[in-house]
Amino acid sequence: MCGIVGYIGNREAQPILLNGLSKLEYRGYDSAGIAVLERNQMKLRKTEGRLANLSARLRDHQLKGTAGIGHTRWATHGRPSDANSHPHTDMSGTFTVVHNGIVENYVELKQELEQRGVVFTSETDTEVVAHLLAEHYEGDLVSAVRAVIQRLQGAYSLGVMTEHEPDKLVAVRQSSPLVVGIGYGENFIASDIAALVAHTRQVYILEDGELAVITPERIAIMNAESGQPTNRKPTQVDWNADQVEKGLFDHFMLKEIHEQPLTLRNTMLGRTNEYDEVCFPELAHAADVFKNVEKVFIVACGTAYHAGLIGSTMIEQLTRIPVQCDIASEFRYRDPVVTANTLLIVVSQSGETADTLAALQEGRRRGAKVLAITNVPTSSIARDADYVISTMAGPEIAVASTKAYTAQLLAFCLFSVYLGQEKRTIRSEQRVELVRGLKALPVQVEKVLENANEVKQYAESIKDAGSLFFIGRGLDYAVALEGSLKLKEISYIHSEAYAAGELKHGTLALIEQGTPVIALVTHMDLYDKTVSNIKEVKARGAHVMGITVEGNVQLLNAADEICFIPPTLQLLAPILAVVPLQLISYYTSLALGKDIDKPRNLAKSVTVE
Ligand code: F6R
Repeated sequence: MCGIVGYIGNREAQPILLNGLSKLEYRGYDSAGIAVLERNQMKLRKTEGRLANLSARLRDHQLKGTAGIGHTRWATHGRPSDANSHPHTDMSGTFTVVHNGIVENYVELKQELEQRGVVFTSETDTEVVAHLLAEHYEGDLVSAVRAVIQRLQGAYSLGVMTEHEPDKLVAVRQSSPLVVGIGYGENFIASDIAALVAHTRQVYILEDGELAVITPERIAIMNAESGQPTNRKPTQVDWNADQVEKGLFDHFMLKEIHEQPLTLRNTMLGRTNEYDEVCFPELAHAADVFKNVEKVFIVACGTAYHAGLIGSTMIEQLTRIPVQCDIASEFRYRDPVVTANTLLIVVSQSGETADTLAALQEGRRRGAKVLAITNVPTSSIARDADYVISTMAGPEIAVASTKAYTAQLLAFCLFSVYLGQEKRTIRSEQRVELVRGLKALPVQVEKVLENANEVKQYAESIKDAGSLFFIGRGLDYAVALEGSLKLKEISYIHSEAYAAGELKHGTLALIEQGTPVIALVTHMDLYDKTVSNIKEVKARGAHVMGITVEGNVQLLNAADEICFIPPTLQLLAPILAVVPLQLISYYTSLALGKDIDKPRNLAKSVTVE
C-alpha cells in the first residue's frame, strides 16, 4: 500500500515526481523519497513523515536530472523512518528500487545475501531487491530484473533505475497495480492514473507478470518470465486533472461529499430507459446467467462491505434470491458453500483491495460467476471479474470513502431492479416507483447538503465525547455501521453501531449520562420499535440525535435533536441518511484538528492481506 512514480524525459524530474507523489499520498503517507539521476549519478532524498517533509528538504537541496523514481510509503516491514523509506539501493548505491507490495520470502533472501557479505541499511523487505539486482547485473538491467523477480515471492510492483543505464527505467507488475503513462519525448510510471493525469491521459495498464522498459522515446512491454513482447493498445483515461485537485474545498473528503449529486447522476446515466426500466448494456451478454442465478454472495471490505449489506437486502427484496454478505477476509477462509448458479458480487472502490481480490479468486475457483461493482474499471478486480458494473464516482482521494459508497448503493439498487426484471420477480409499478425514486436522489442529496450547518453544530457538540453509539434497525442498522466507521477513522473517537433491538442484550451497560447516541429512524414500518429503543437509552441518560424523514416531527418526543432527510422509498433511504453522518464525521474531525484526508494508520488502497 504504497505509491510509486517514475519519470524519464527532457524535463526536470524532481517536481514531476513530487507532484505525482502528492496524488498518491492517499496510498500511504508515513514516509517518502525520490531518487534522481544527476549527471548520471544516483542521488537520493528520503524522509520519515509526510511528503511535505520531503518537499521541504528538497527546497534547499534540489535534485537536478531528467530521470527519477519516487515513493510514498505505508509501513509494513519496518517502522516509518528515514532509513526504511524508499528508494532503496544496493551497497554501491548504483541500483535503486521503489516497491509497492510485500516480498514474502524476504527473510530467507536477506539471510542468503548477508551470508555473502551484504550489509543491510533498512528493516524493509524491499532492500533485498536492490542487492539482488547488483548481484545479477551483467551489463543488462532488463535481464537482471527478470532474473531477480524469479527469486521473489509475494506481491510487488517495482520501479528500478541504475547509473549503468541512465537512459531507462524498468517497471514490473505482480499483484500490485502499475500503469505506464505515454508522453511526447517523455514517459511515466505510477501506481495510479491519478498521478499522471496532469501530464497524459494515454496509459498502458500493466498486467500481472509484465515488465516495461521505459525510455524517453519508447515503451516496450514484455512478459517478464519469457521476455516475449506483449502487444498492447493504450487505454484512454477519461479523468481530468481537476478531479484530483481539492478546488475550493478545504479537504478532499468535503469535496467528495459535495460531489455526490453529480456522482449519483453519472452512475445512473444510460442505465434506465424512457419506460423506467433498468438497462445494463455491459451485462447484455450475460442475461442467461443472471436469469438462472439461485444464490448470491456479496463480498467486500470496510465501507464497501457496508454497501454490500444494503445491497443484500435490495436483491433479496426485489428478487427473493437468498443473499449472503461476507467480509472478504472471512469469506476466503471459511469454506463457503458455492453451488451451481451462484453469483459472487465483489464490491470495491479501488478494485485493488487484496482481500477482496483473493475472495473473488476463491469464489471463482469454487465455480461462482463473478460480478464486480467497482469505481476503477481498469483495476485488477474489474479485470478478473466476469462482469463489471462501474460506479461513476470519479477518483476518490480522501481515505474515508463517501461518494464511492453512495454510488455503490445506487449501483446495487439498479442491479437489483435489473435482476428482478430478468427473473420477472419485480412488479412493474414497483420498478417504476424505484427508478423514479432513484432519479430524484441527486436533488434530494443537494437538499441534505444545504443543511450542512446544522450538522456542523451537532459535530461541535460531540467532539469531546469519549464514545458514541449509532443505532438503527434493518437498513438503518447498516447505515449506522457506516456512520460509526466514518467517525472512528477520521476523528479517532470510539464509536459502535448497534442493531437498536440488540442494545439491551449487553451494550446498554455502556450508556451513561450524556453519552451521545445517533439514532437512524428512516424505517417507518419499524418506527415504534426504534423509538422504544431510543427511550431505553434516554432513560439511562443518553443524548439522542435522531435522523429521520421530513415530516416525522413526532420523533422530537423521543429524541433531543433531529436531522431530516427528504422523503424517499425505504430501499433508497440509506443513500440520503448516510450524508448527514458523513458530514458529522467530517466536522467532528475538523473541530478536533485532525488530518481529515489522511487519518493515522490508514491508507486508501489496501493491497496487503
Ligand atoms: C473506509 C474505507 C475503507 C474501504 C475498504 C475497502 O472509509 O474507505 O473501509 O472501504 O478498505 O476498499 P475498496 O472499496 O477500495 O475495496
